Amino acid sequence: MRRSVTAILLLLMPVGALAADGASLGGPFRLIDQNGAVRTESDFRGSYPLIYFGFTHCPDLCPRSLGTMSTALDELSARAPAKAQRVALLFITVDPERDTVAVIKDYVAKFHPRLIGLTGSAEEVEAMTRTYGAFYAPVPQEGGDYAMDHSGFIVLMGPAGEYLTHFESDVGADALAAELEQRVTP
Ligand code: NI
Repeated sequence: MRRSVTAILLLLMPVGALAADGASLGGPFRLIDQNGAVRTESDFRGSYPLIYFGFTHCPDLCPRSLGTMSTALDELSARAPAKAQRVALLFITVDPERDTVAVIKDYVAKFHPRLIGLTGSAEEVEAMTRTYGAFYAPVPQEGGDYAMDHSGFIVLMGPAGEYLTHFESDVGADALAAELEQRVTP
């Protein structure tokens, strides 16, 4: 673990600040997907990115939220397939040290065929995370291992890269699907 304490403190912004200043969220990023391809924000123009920040070693919150996002997309696909096609499911790791391209590839495959996993250098991940209002911090565990404390919200961006809304981690799949159906234009 080699992370700048200063950088971590900068990231410790309350989740509540997100909604109040949502208009400023979002912006350029450059990360690598689970197939090794470079992905930037411009790749998702015209889509509705539904973004979650987490890490593959997460025991509970991440699997639950990614499961919710996957189920919601399936529900939307059944009701409004054209809208569902415009949604991009994104998982951004906050633990790039362990979450390599190969690890991310195995992980996203467990959830949804359309889930895109993104990793990058520590600096790239930090920049992207800050841009989208998420925070994370390593938590040392016994035996030299570590977990990551991290924000649990799900961000929905619009087709021009603009912030639309966000959901708490305990949002249900039905509620998420309903909100997507309302906000996404086919
Ligand atoms: Ni997690």
